[in-house]
Amino acid sequence: MAKARSTAFFCKECGYESAKWMGQCPACRAWNSMVEEPVAKKTAAGAVPSLGRTGISGSGAAGTRIRPSLLSEISLEEEDRIDTGFGELNRVLGDGIVAGSLVLVGGDPGIGKSTILLQVCRNLAGSGLKVLYISGEESLKQIKMRANRIGPVEGDLKFLCETNLEQIEQAIEAEQPKVAVIDSIQTMYREDISSAPGSVSQVRESTGILMQIAKSRGITIFIVGHVTKEGVVAGPRVLEHMVDTVLYFEGDRNASYRILRSVKNRFGSTNEIGVFEMEEEGLVEVENPSEYMLDGRPEEASGAVVSCSMEGTRPILLEVQALVAETNFGMPRRTAAGTDYNRVNLLMAVLEKRCRYQLSRFDAYVNIAGGMRMNEPALDLAIVMALMSSYKDRPVDPGMLIFGEVGLSGEVRAVSQAAQRVNEALKMGFTSCVLPKVCLGKLKPVEGIRLIGVSNVREAIGLL
Ligand SMILES: Nc1ncnc2c1ncn2[C@@H]1O[C@H](COP(=O)(O)OP(=O)(O)OP(=O)(O)O)[C@@H](O)[C@H]1O
Ligand SMILES: [Mg+2]
Repeated sequence: MAKARSTAFFCKECGYESAKWMGQCPACRAWNSMVEEPVAKKTAAGAVPSLGRTGISGSGAAGTRIRPSLLSEISLEEEDRIDTGFGELNRVLGDGIVAGSLVLVGGDPGIGKSTILLQVCRNLAGSGLKVLYISGEESLKQIKMRANRIGPVEGDLKFLCETNLEQIEQAIEAEQPKVAVIDSIQTMYREDISSAPGSVSQVRESTGILMQIAKSRGITIFIVGHVTKEGVVAGPRVLEHMVDTVLYFEGDRNASYRILRSVKNRFGSTNEIGVFEMEEEGLVEVENPSEYMLDGRPEEASGAVVSCSMEGTRPILLEVQALVAETNFGMPRRTAAGTDYNRVNLLMAVLEKRCRYQLSRFDAYVNIAGGMRMNEPALDLAIVMALMSSYKDRPVDPGMLIFGEVGLSGEVRAVSQAAQRVNEALKMGFTSCVLPKVCLGKLKPVEGIRLIGVSNVREAIGLL
């Protein structure tokens, strides 16, 4: 038998364990991803959490034979979705919290992860559920300060400052909450693993324990995860595989709105977003993001075009701004804020080649107002129109909405969900809408809004 090792190498990407260092992980083929860490002493739980212990199979008790179940033998509880008190969050989760699920919430430092979870805890406690908030980052006093900010807390909401998972397991066992929050997974540790909190093996093993607790007792656990500078949750990639739902909280540092996006959801769609605004009293839902994004829009200014982007089932109107100015140097400057830089370059090349505009003598700056990031191809036509409006110094009709994808030959291609976009425009008081001709054929005429179909960019520019 091999001698027990005290350290091993773990892949940061997939958690693969190896006795020796390797330049490339044999499991996930990532380069330079192996880090040396002390190995876990094998416990009764085993290194890899097994769902067999969790009671999902129907028989969890030690000694009983494990028997596979038929779907018809599994009963679903009545209220298997819990309302979080935030419509925006419910939608991102797929109509509320699923009992016994594990939800990972990631986001930049200071974005509001602790705030939103505390608000959710407060809502849940207010509706009569037992909630436990475990913080490894802040003292009870600091939590109280935040709680004072968000308003009075009623019901059974308890707090614990602890980082040792065995203690946390005991506390959960004693309290039997319906929902628990772990803030954050990078501060939690297991005593039987000698590496530091936040290391690959600690994060993986801690999440394994939490998964067992969640599944076996039907407790929903929210886990806060720090993100690396690349914007992914710090720790092994397996973390995202282990949990049921991964939410990212994002937003512009300088803007007060925050967007909650789901990148993985075992119980719902992943393209829904929730929009919030950070205020004195915590996060407030933004029910009409279009109104929010178009607030303070300049009228009759050249280079400003309103377009519509779909975020899941939800249309959001936003303003695309462009500034085209003669360059002072041989090399024109191009910048794109809030959208893809390469896409802007491509669209300008289309304008040069297909419409014969000499744009190489001009600097061009494109910006999505409000600090939102949008990469949907449906914005192409709006970017083209904003550039041309600025280039010709002719404002676009402020009551006009523009969307459509632009192809390399300058053709305007179909986009999905055109009807929803037109309806949103109508709702926001727009009087005309420029859209791909192919989409126009499929739409019924809508009262109150003039629909203008275009088949190529030249036709669209003619409208200026
Ligand atoms: N009085 C206030 N008025 C408005 N916004 C506030 C106020 N106090 C705090 N904030 C906002 O709340 C943010 C901090 O929120 P929170 O502590 O929930 O972030 P976090 O994502 O948990 O951060 P960390 O990664 O450090 O744990 C601040 O960055 C600030 O934007
Ligand atoms: Mg926090």
